[in-house]
Amino acid sequence: MKTETRSLLPLPALLLGLLGSAVAAEVHQATGFKIVNVTSTSAEVWTRVTLRAAANPANGPLPRVEVFEAKTGQPVPLRENRMFPDARITVQMPPGLDLGAAGGAAPAAAGQTRVRFRVKGAAQWAETAWRDASIERDGIVLHALPGLLPAARYEVVVQARRNASDGGPDEQAGEFKTAPLPTQSERVVFCVMTCQKYERQDRPDGLAIYPAMGALRPDFFVNTGDVVYFDHGPVIALTPALARFHWARMFALPTLRDFHRNHSSFFMKDDHDTLANDCGPASRSGELTYAEGVRIFREQTGLPEVANRTVRWGRDLQVWLMEGRDYRSPDREANRGSAPTLWGPAQIKWLGETLTASTATFRVILTTVPVVGPDRSNKDDNYANAGFAVEGSKVRALLARHRNLTVITGDRHWQYVSADPATSVNEWSVGPASAAHAGGWDEKTPRPEHRFLRTGHGGFLSGVVTPTASGASLELRLHDTDGRVVYREQKVSR
Ligand SMILES: [Fe+2]
Repeated sequence: MKTETRSLLPLPALLLGLLGSAVAAEVHQATGFKIVNVTSTSAEVWTRVTLRAAANPANGPLPRVEVFEAKTGQPVPLRENRMFPDARITVQMPPGLDLGAAGGAAPAAAGQTRVRFRVKGAAQWAETAWRDASIERDGIVLHALPGLLPAARYEVVVQARRNASDGGPDEQAGEFKTAPLPTQSERVVFCVMTCQKYERQDRPDGLAIYPAMGALRPDFFVNTGDVVYFDHGPVIALTPALARFHWARMFALPTLRDFHRNHSSFFMKDDHDTLANDCGPASRSGELTYAEGVRIFREQTGLPEVANRTVRWGRDLQVWLMEGRDYRSPDREANRGSAPTLWGPAQIKWLGETLTASTATFRVILTTVPVVGPDRSNKDDNYANAGFAVEGSKVRALLARHRNLTVITGDRHWQYVSADPATSVNEWSVGPASAAHAGGWDEKTPRPEHRFLRTGHGGFLSGVVTPTASGASLELRLHDTDGRVVYREQKVSR
């Protein structure tokens, strides 16, 4: 690590704001790096060059966002959980300041990054080429690490510099493990979480679940979506610049930054982190279209072009990451007559084919929205809701045809384990990232389909696959935000 020789943070706010648009003398990595899309032989490292070593203090000035009706110019009151499709947006900072000076901001800088990597303890480092990071790309470069060894732990050092004559690059270190081959039976630990809101942190440095998950040393981690909430809080993200502000302040939180550089991640996108509550491909809000929201999500997480994918992790585990927004029926209101689709016919066909082709002992379906539920009767957004009952029944029947299969869902702000009465398909809801973000389900008594129900708390899920003489076992556990197990079940392969 390079020592920070001069801190810009105590400077007067005015100067800070001016520096937001000035040329940096040196560059930093306030948002750390992320190791994403790991397979048995490859990985990608998401890097971002920033102007300063840390985010601005959260109590700094915030931009004032205002919305005006496009046709009439009339002001429109800002509300959470809604879209503003035909609106003109203004964003104002106090005089003399730009968005880079906002509370929590970690603005990008132009520069270069490269990644050094080696099998842990090996003598020789390999390195990627230096690549340019531009302000236009929010300082982000996604580096590919090809030709990796399966089931190997790698050390990584990400270097960021201003240019080729910058002799003292900023360095951050981390590590990750590649997936074992389908022929290798190994113990696997993974963690799944969802729904993290910047305004609902439970530690001064972010979220307690990150160190709690890190203590389990997971081989990989899945964020099932609502990674940020564009349509919540005092700064509703209605422009691309505000969307990037949301992303940067989240990943500059020290607990997240430290977790992501030491664990590989798979990111799934949902509605609040793409555009707004219950959005779909036809949605737009302020200056953001759905397509622009998806583009920014890819930029910020390394999400591949085709979001639905399946990942094999050794002999005993295969996971499916289902895409819940891109293939939805657009304009539900106009098409009430026909049964709408949520995952889309092509993705459902792909799911059936890849499940049939899978030779893994356990199959884990990760979904951004519930497949089993139960959910509230006033919602119309997922397979547990009446509006998607037709396709939901088909999907649950498809899943029920496969042995040793479990569904894990994000999105809901309470934890549960349920079994579908018709097909017995199990679903685990991992809960929101912090207790302050819990809510949505008020019933304290479990319904018949609930095997477990816990409201009013945050947490996450972990899974442990252990090879046995005749197959494997899969232990699934729901944790509270400090990592304590609140529910567990052990599944033995059939
Ligand atoms: Fe959420």
